[in-house]
Amino acid sequence: MNTIYEKVDPLDPDEAVMKKAGDIIRSGGLVAFPTETVYGLGGDALDADASAKIYEAKGRPSDNPLIVHIAKFEDIYRITQSVPEEARILAERFWPGPLTMIFKKSAIVPDKTTGGLDTVAVRFPSHPVAQKFIEAAGGYIAAPSANISGRPSPTNGEHVLADMDTRIDMIIDAGPCDIGLESTIIDLSSGPCMMLRPGYVNDRMLSEVIGEVKKDEAVFGNSSAAPKAPGMKYRHYAPRGEMTIVAGSGDRVVSFITDKINQRSEGTKIAVLSCTKNADRYKGADLVFDVGDAANEKLIAQRLYDTLRRCDEESIDIIYSEEFDTPSLGLAIMNRLIKAAGHNIIRV
Ligand code: TXA
Ligand code: MG
Repeated sequence: MNTIYEKVDPLDPDEAVMKKAGDIIRSGGLVAFPTETVYGLGGDALDADASAKIYEAKGRPSDNPLIVHIAKFEDIYRITQSVPEEARILAERFWPGPLTMIFKKSAIVPDKTTGGLDTVAVRFPSHPVAQKFIEAAGGYIAAPSANISGRPSPTNGEHVLADMDTRIDMIIDAGPCDIGLESTIIDLSSGPCMMLRPGYVNDRMLSEVIGEVKKDEAVFGNSSAAPKAPGMKYRHYAPRGEMTIVAGSGDRVVSFITDKINQRSEGTKIAVLSCTKNADRYKGADLVFDVGDAANEKLIAQRLYDTLRRCDEESIDIIYSEEFDTPSLGLAIMNRLIKAAGHNIIRV
């Protein structure tokens, strides 16, 4: 398939491109589009065949449900059975924005879109291009992140092209994503609000509005139960090299990783993901990524997936990462890093 690639102004996208993208969706095709979190791979959420095509293009297991994106709050009522008061309060505060809420689904949402579940995840993104695209396409876009399943989520148009060229009808490139990590997911479909995936909207921000928020033990704790967001069980975000997170006090981390660099066997390429203050201390590494520090944690989130992809481009065999336990985004950053490392963490 020939994939159309269009660059647009993130604040004022070309109307003709938006119309073309909308027409592709209305005729059952797939379009990758920017959001404030990561790029999405969109299809008509109310068309089971379009959802099937999304799973195929990504190589994604079809028990892993898709998020339905809307561009007007009122549109939520057609796809849900009931919207609790809490959701209205949260929407008032965080929508449009990087928060996904799960509800009981209505009959018009195909089982294919929700991976067979009787619930639907709904998100109203703030990116102007996402909003115009969703409107042009008829209001309901099913979209997972626009990466091949298991690879890091795409945070710019080139990432999408690398994974999706020839697999989908069109890519809309509006430059780098502002946040760089996927939305926070909360479940409001039964009982008290529960967080299923951490993101930019953190537990403190949610509790300020609706009181205490529980967290899915399977994702945040040590429980061996299955996560409530099926996607959280898969190995994700993973670079091809073997990755280890080294946690502990600054100097011990630097000397542990430096020893590993010195002991490596001939021809093995090593990269280090470092905070700014340690970045020039990893002598002998093939690549050192300065991913930022606690004072500018937004940068860490923005750069994380690009950094993991660059490790692949540079054919890195072994990756060591410091821990980035930052105040506001730390939970979300570490959740993605730990999954990228396949839970391989060493404390020194
Ligand atoms: O920021 C985002 O949320 C991005 C952009 C494109 O909007 N999308 C995204 O989609 O991250 P995806 O498919 O990569 O991740 C969706 C997650 C998966 O872990 C999936 O299992 C979970 O949401 N999910 C979707 N619907 C669900 C449902 N009804 N119940 C529980 N989990 C659900
Ligand atoms: Mg994803």
